[in-house]
This record gives sequence, C-alpha cells and structure tokens, in this order.
Amino acid sequence: MRLNAARIPISPSPAQLPGAFAMTEHLPVMAPELVSLLAPEPGQTAVDCTFGAGGHARRVAELLGPEGRLIGIDRDPAAEARFARFAIEAPCRTLFISADFAAGLKALRGEGIRPEMIYMDLGMSSLQVDSWERGFSYAYDAPLDMRMDTRQKFTAADLVNEWPETRIVQVLRRFGEERYAGGIAREIVRRRPLSTTSELVAAIKAGMPAAARFGAGHPAKRSFQAIRIAVNGELESLEEALPLAWEQLAVGGRLGAISFHSLEDRPVKRFLAGKARGCLCPPELPVCVCGHEPEAELLTRRAVSPGPEEVEQNPRSRSAHLRVARKIAEATPAGETG
Ligand SMILES: C[S@@+](CC[C@H](N)C(=O)[O-])C[C@H]1O[C@@H](n2cnc3c(N)ncnc32)[C@H](O)[C@@H]1O
Repeated sequence: MRLNAARIPISPSPAQLPGAFAMTEHLPVMAPELVSLLAPEPGQTAVDCTFGAGGHARRVAELLGPEGRLIGIDRDPAAEARFARFAIEAPCRTLFISADFAAGLKALRGEGIRPEMIYMDLGMSSLQVDSWERGFSYAYDAPLDMRMDTRQKFTAADLVNEWPETRIVQVLRRFGEERYAGGIAREIVRRRPLSTTSELVAAIKAGMPAAARFGAGHPAKRSFQAIRIAVNGELESLEEALPLAWEQLAVGGRLGAISFHSLEDRPVKRFLAGKARGCLCPPELPVCVCGHEPEAELLTRRAVSPGPEEVEQNPRSRSAHLRVARKIAEATPAGETG
C-alpha cells in the first residue's frame, strides 16, 4: 500500500476548468443523490473509498474548493493512473491510496486525518468488466483471473482448481445464492483444470438442469458474482472497513455506501442501524440504566434507489441501494454511562 501524496500533483487553482472537469467517461450511479446527502462544503475532506473512474469524486471535488481535499482509495492499480489525470484538473487538494479500503482507512488513522465525508460505491466498475482480459465477465473468453488488485496472487483459477468441492459449494451458495451450487461445484471439480472463463461457463451450464439454463439472466451470472466476491474477499473488506470509516469520521461527518446486492447492503444497513441505536438495555428494564447514546442519525431511513430515468440510461444502476448516516457523537467510552 502506498500513500503517494508526493507523486500525485496537487493542483494549485480551483474552478479553472469547470466544463472540462465535469466531463467523465463513466456514469456514476446515483451521483446527484449521493452528493446531496453528503453535502460537501468548501474546505472539507472527503474520502472516496472506491475511486474507480472518479465519477463520484469529480462531483464531490467540485464542491470542496481549493482548501478542501479529496482522498481517493482503490485497490485496482489501473485506478491510480485515472486518479493522476483527475488530480491534474481537480479543484481541490488530492491524495491517492493504492490499497484495499480497509487498509487505506487504517493509513488515514495513522496520519490522524478526520474526514467530513467517507463514501464507497461497492463492487466492480464497468471499466473492470469491460477489460475482457481480466476475466470478470462471462461474456468474453479470458483467463480465469477476476482480481481487482492485480498485485494479489490468488486468482479465480486458484479458487476453481484448488479449493475443495465443499468450499466451492459454500461460495456459490453464500455469495451467489445459486440454487444449483452442488451440481455446479461437482462439474467444476470434474473438469479440472479450468483455465478460461468459457471453460467455467461450460462447467456452470453443465452443472445445472437444462431448464434452468434458459431462465432469466445469464446462467453463469450468480456463479461469476460469487467467485469474484470470494477472490477479492469483498465482504470481509466491507465488514472491516465500516467501523474503521466510522471511527475516522469527524463528528458531524457523513458516511455513505452504494451497494448492488443484498450481501453488501445488509452489513451496511446493520452497521448504520447499530450506530443509530440509543439505549441498549434489555426490554424488560423499566428505565434505561445503560446511558448509551446514539452515534448516528440515519439520513436515509430506507435505502435510496435510482429513478426510472437513471435505470433506463444506465441499467447497471437497477439494483443499487444508497444509505447515508451522519455521525452525531463519538462512541460512548466503555464504562462511562449516565
Ligand atoms: C463501482 S466502482 C466505483 C466507481 C466510482 N464510484 C466512479 O464513479 O467511477 C468500484 C471500484 O472500487 C474498487 N474497489 C472495490 N472494492 C474495493 C476495496 N475493498 N478496496 C479498495 N477498492 C475497492 C474497485 O477496484 C473499483 O474500481
């Protein structure tokens, strides 16, 4: 992991290129909703934990002003070059951390940085899917890779060729909610070694009943999602990052997350709801003795979803859920109750 402030130019002047700066090659999901809920102000620090192509970062940076600072994190080394281009035009100070966001947030803690907003747009980017050679998509024939961080050793080929069948079943069930996990895992193991996405697609199709191959959506969609989540340890990273982000956030600051399936949305929802809880006493107690105060105000009681226009323009946004909470207090230190 690198905190590479020294190598990324800090642009001296704001608002010089408003038109050019607003242009982006990638359609960020629910950008107006995210920006409005984060409410960036001049001089503040924002952390974009999933910089990607910088679509959200551009919109946030526009509001931070020359004294503000946008810190981008992304574990995909390809994002670093995009960040460097972003930094040249950004109307605020910038910093990039090339790492998993949990590690990046720990690095910020080490630097004593307390941002006013931290947000994450989870999952893979359309740029990653469209880089066919990276093996994220069942639509292209490519080596079985699926690593977001190409410095990581473990690939999808290692998972399908080396993990025991029972563990592959668990991955397909847990991360893909795949009904035919057992049959698919058996077929994967029977066909080893697999080295390409088309060999994996063939194994998946062979492992499910014929009728199921012609249902809604591509038959390999759920299995590819599951294997990608496992290869990248996506849910572990999210579970680790949420408390780190919350701890780092300044009081009054906001934490936002856009998720694309229930496996991601559930931990976000549970985490923020936990922070918004006041009294933790057992319900049978007539009065509160714990003195626990809520740390969060939920700015989205229910997750925000994209409107029909956005879904039409960007079908990938269809399953998106946005949740944002404001930090209203630091955690009550253990033993310090009212
Ligand atoms: C959905 S895209 C983000 C798109 C971005 N918001 C934009 O507007 O361009 C997700 C990005 O987050 C990165 N990513 C996913 N999980 C990560 C993690 N645990 N740590 C760091 N980066 C992660 C991926 O590499 C990818 O570039």
